[in-house]
Amino acid sequence: MTFGPNSWTPVPGAFIQKVGKDVHAYKNEIGPKAVVVMVGLPARGKSYIVKKLKRYLSWLGFKTMVFNVGNRRRTCAAEAEVKTGCKQNHTSDFFNPNNEDAKSLRDQLAMDTLNEVITWLNEGGKVGILDATNSTKARRQRIIDRCSRESDINILFVESICTDPKVLARNMQLKLSGPDYRDQESESASEDFQARVANYERAYQTIEDDEDEDIQYCKIINVGKKVIAHNIQTFLAGQCVFYLMNMNLAERQIWLTRHGESLDNQVGKIGGDAPLSDAGCEYAEALAAFMAEQQRNFRCSETSTPPQLTVWTSMLRRAVETAEHFNPEEFDIKHMKFLNEIYAGICEGMTYKEIEERYPEDFKARATSKFYYRYPGMGGESYCDVIQRLCPVIVELERTRNSVLIVTHRALTRSLLAYFMDIPLRQMTNLDIPLNALYCIEAKPYGNVLIKYEYSHVTKSFSQVENDVQQI
Ligand code: F6P
Repeated sequence: MTFGPNSWTPVPGAFIQKVGKDVHAYKNEIGPKAVVVMVGLPARGKSYIVKKLKRYLSWLGFKTMVFNVGNRRRTCAAEAEVKTGCKQNHTSDFFNPNNEDAKSLRDQLAMDTLNEVITWLNEGGKVGILDATNSTKARRQRIIDRCSRESDINILFVESICTDPKVLARNMQLKLSGPDYRDQESESASEDFQARVANYERAYQTIEDDEDEDIQYCKIINVGKKVIAHNIQTFLAGQCVFYLMNMNLAERQIWLTRHGESLDNQVGKIGGDAPLSDAGCEYAEALAAFMAEQQRNFRCSETSTPPQLTVWTSMLRRAVETAEHFNPEEFDIKHMKFLNEIYAGICEGMTYKEIEERYPEDFKARATSKFYYRYPGMGGESYCDVIQRLCPVIVELERTRNSVLIVTHRALTRSLLAYFMDIPLRQMTNLDIPLNALYCIEAKPYGNVLIKYEYSHVTKSFSQVENDVQQI
């Protein structure tokens, strides 16, 4: 373990654990590993929750992976078909609790998947998410028994309960276009799926406090409307519950952009607090007009009035000036320090060339490990530090039902895009985020969609960058 050049704090990582008397004896992590075990009937939004949780925990730096029992079932069925030449029938009767053969096969698939989770955790993973219905006490007890054979693994059960007919109908539609039913005619698919859910309902047992004396669980009711937390003991479980408590399903857009060009950008200086250049002022004006138009045209599928647009900027002059043309009577405008650019310590106000000449070792160290490298000098930050200070912003973004435009900076835009698009942390530090680029993220039930726009100083307008629609 090496020490950072500027302080006593060991680098890398936001979390470290002391493991011995030696001053250098640290493990780059905190607390035990976790298995997040999903519980719930089919079409209750489990996979939606799983995807979001995976994205958040990975973004926080915890190595997280999802293990889906349904995928294992389909793979095994396909393999058995090849081997035996017989069609494997996974219609609703396969999920009948009285169908003993199928039940034992389903239990086996779940336990095999859990074993895969545990192997992965033992090989260096931090959080394994077991995505399945796990809807009976007996199944959950088997999971608890299996995990208790391992030394450093905690379980958090997350039960998703959904009674909102609109959400149920939407989840059902998603299921019908999913891998079990997409090749089937819609009426028979819908009938079979409803029979499958009815079969699960016959055996379903909600989680109860006395299932196991140590059971740690949360119940998410109607995708975050109500959350019940029980016996939350670990740091990771606390993070998960807090995050899930704040999510909502409102249809809205999240827009991200860097500030308009600043005087420092013109000469290649990093950091600082320069005002906008003339080109930057032009971008600011165009941005307000474009966003007002986008706001008017945004259509939700469920309501006729589009959500309100909130504008958040950093507290640096170039970002505040970029939002200058938004009318505060029409838009809720907030400036927050959380969104300030990565602070470059003693390198603030220098060009990259100057840094390379004056601090060649630091320049090299940053190129080698850009995510963990912390700029030397008072207040100097790393990308890892930036992620930590962005946590409250992410939770607030999940909580709010408004559309939000975030006017910020290059490192911050990278970090926010990494969260929304599940981009690995080490990869995101080099994402190309030019000035004049505007990103729109729309949350869809199956994941986020990213659309990129570009402002041209020649045509004085924004246009969508073709072939740059990404989806996760
Ligand atoms: O150059 C603009 C800028 O926003 C700097 O203020 C900041 O230090 C830098 O970009 C972040 O990008 P990178 O991490 O690639 O140096």
